[in-house]
Amino acid sequence: MTHHSAKSKAAPRTTRQATDHAARSVPRGIPRVPSFFGKGKGKGKGKGALPRAPGIGLKALHQADLLEAPPASVHWVEAHTENFMARGGPTHRWLDAIRDRFPLSLHGVALSLGAAHGVDPDHLARVKAVVDRFDPVQVSEHLAWVGPPGIYLNDLLPLPLTEDSLAVVADNVSRVQGTLGRSILVENPSQYLAFHDTVLAEPDFLAELARRTGCGLLLDVNNVHVSAVNLGFDAIGWLDRLAAQGPPVGEIHLAGHADREVEGVTILIDDHGSRVRPAVWDLYDHALSLFGPTPTLIEWDSDVPPLSVLADEAAQAGARLAAHGEREMADA
Ligand SMILES: [Fe+2]
Repeated sequence: MTHHSAKSKAAPRTTRQATDHAARSVPRGIPRVPSFFGKGKGKGKGKGALPRAPGIGLKALHQADLLEAPPASVHWVEAHTENFMARGGPTHRWLDAIRDRFPLSLHGVALSLGAAHGVDPDHLARVKAVVDRFDPVQVSEHLAWVGPPGIYLNDLLPLPLTEDSLAVVADNVSRVQGTLGRSILVENPSQYLAFHDTVLAEPDFLAELARRTGCGLLLDVNNVHVSAVNLGFDAIGWLDRLAAQGPPVGEIHLAGHADREVEGVTILIDDHGSRVRPAVWDLYDHALSLFGPTPTLIEWDSDVPPLSVLADEAAQAGARLAAHGEREMADA
């Protein structure tokens, strides 16, 4: 087990770098603009930032409801980049309509930023075509790889966290950002196994990646909790350690997970198939206290319920964002 359980308190917030696409963090002592109920600049156009408010993942099941009766608690939408790689057709028209109504984030799963053989130029070209076509407010991917050259295993595979892998990921992120002509956010994955070869703590790896490449981070709080339980590290310490290094966090993910009993050991599975668990809401509150009000996505990808359930989860996130925003205004 190579993750550190840093219990240290986070360093005071100082001026942080912020990408032009990431929600900007404000140094302590300066009142934050309570923009968490506002719409992002440009409404889906490529510049600006997502609103510091809740959004939801785009699901075909909600296609009509989202456009005809958009819930008040849903302020932006995130779509999976790979779902829109066809050259046109109804899915493109649907995303056009969504983008006209909501600020749009595009979230990829197959760029394989951790691949030692580099990012597949054909896939990167397809991603670029989707990004150019829909010009989202934000683009994000995962700290993961998806298989050896020419093979796509349809999973987000973990990588050992070393100086060598950091150099590989930094090269890949720089290539992606250079090709897209914009910075991206990189998400911490859920983990089930630790590598003997890992020598860098995940928060240190992510913060250094952001420093080297100018990328922002997508902080998946559910993934931190799932990984912490599975690998036996302290989730609060993980967040504190990340915050102490001041990387730009442009978005937070929240999702449900499942419990599985395997040979007497409980394993958490990041299945995005249920409501956010209380422990993850608590961790989210801690993340907000460290990073300030941040655009927050409710992810739900299996056993997708009616839109009203996602709207209810988004409303809960919105209440916590508002509470933190008001607290910060009072403290300032
Ligand atoms: Fe996520």
